[in-house]
Amino acid sequence: MSQTSPSSTHNLRADGARLWATIHETARFGGTPKGGINRLTLSAEDGQVRDWFREACEAAGLTVGVDALGTQYALRPGQDMSLPPVAFGSHLDTQPTGGKFDGVLGVLAGLEVMRTLNDAGIGTRAPLLLVNWTNEEGSRFAPAMMASAAYAGDFTTDEILAKRDAAGTTVAEALDAIGYRGGEAVGERAIGAFVELHIEQGPILEAEGKTIGVVEGGQGIAWFDGRIEGFESHAGTTPMPRRRDALLGLSEFALAVERIALAHGPSAVATIGEATILAPSRNVVPGQVAFTLDMRDPRSATLDAMEAELREAAAEIGGRRRMTLALSRIWRKEPVPFDAGVVAAVEAAAEGLGLSRRRIVSGAGHDACNLAGRVPTAMIFVPCKDGVSHNESESATQGDCAAGADVLLQTVLRLAG
Ligand code: GLV
Ligand code: MN
Ligand code: MN
Ligand code: MN
Repeated sequence: MSQTSPSSTHNLRADGARLWATIHETARFGGTPKGGINRLTLSAEDGQVRDWFREACEAAGLTVGVDALGTQYALRPGQDMSLPPVAFGSHLDTQPTGGKFDGVLGVLAGLEVMRTLNDAGIGTRAPLLLVNWTNEEGSRFAPAMMASAAYAGDFTTDEILAKRDAAGTTVAEALDAIGYRGGEAVGERAIGAFVELHIEQGPILEAEGKTIGVVEGGQGIAWFDGRIEGFESHAGTTPMPRRRDALLGLSEFALAVERIALAHGPSAVATIGEATILAPSRNVVPGQVAFTLDMRDPRSATLDAMEAELREAAAEIGGRRRMTLALSRIWRKEPVPFDAGVVAAVEAAAEGLGLSRRRIVSGAGHDACNLAGRVPTAMIFVPCKDGVSHNESESATQGDCAAGADVLLQTVLRLAG
């Protein structure tokens, strides 16, 4: 690869039309009638998009490896192979009602960066590494972002391999089913810096008319599994005052969750995203309910306070309604600040491109939030329509995606030399 002076690379731009075509090309894997994507991690559709990704990377001259948790790494050599690679990427799995951009944009813009550098014949001093992290979404296997957490050392590989989905399938079995349990040890690859481009998934950039979010960090997340044990009884004969209806217990608790989050607002959010009556029947008073709870805030102390208040509410509602309301915390991710140097590189790249921008904290969880524990990391946000994400109607413009890819390209050039 030829060596080029920085001035010539400053004018380099990604091919926004090619990126847009790639986003739509891959949207067929798990594509839904409503124009979204249902591509749960390690599903057959996830296997298909991974195969596509590997082939596209190889066609771009990259060397693709897979680690023991299925994460794909595509390497472009640098002029100095003793340097750790500058890495970028995101995830190709989606929510069951996912859109075309969440995760996908960061991976495919990364591919576009590699293609643009190839077309221009530009080499970098440090190698470049494009990453597709396994199971960012956490919808099928909890917790979210599990492969990047293992990379950062927060879990062992065996702990993650043993996690089960609702059908009882383990991560290990799901990886084997699509042929993606790779040979590389997780965390073995050194990474010098990590940059993730993503849609904002919230309304701020759009509302302020800004093209680029320079992301300074991610908020904290706590996940709980909840279970309510009331008593199953006859729907026709059990007088209302005698009932121990678990669904009514959950209804009251759900309102308490809303009240508590609002009281800690405006940054605090809390969501019961799954709720199931166990052994449901039209003419049985619900006796047992299982549910999930997702709670987030940029401040650790607020997460603590909200959890304490939620437990108090659960005890009070359970006592009054003669049922047990158990909450078990299955995951907590502390708020993370990103690396000042990488944040500054993103900011300088956006400025050099003349793009409007603001500093922002991520409301969503991202693999970058895990990487930040081990590697200097930052993120780039672009707006999405009406701030909507985790919805099939999720949408972003070709121009904003291209601008994000340009910022990624220029950030990577700054970091890789
Ligand atoms: C997953 O996308 C999350 O942010 O929870
Ligand atoms: Mn995402
Ligand atoms: Mn997501
Ligand atoms: Mn996410």
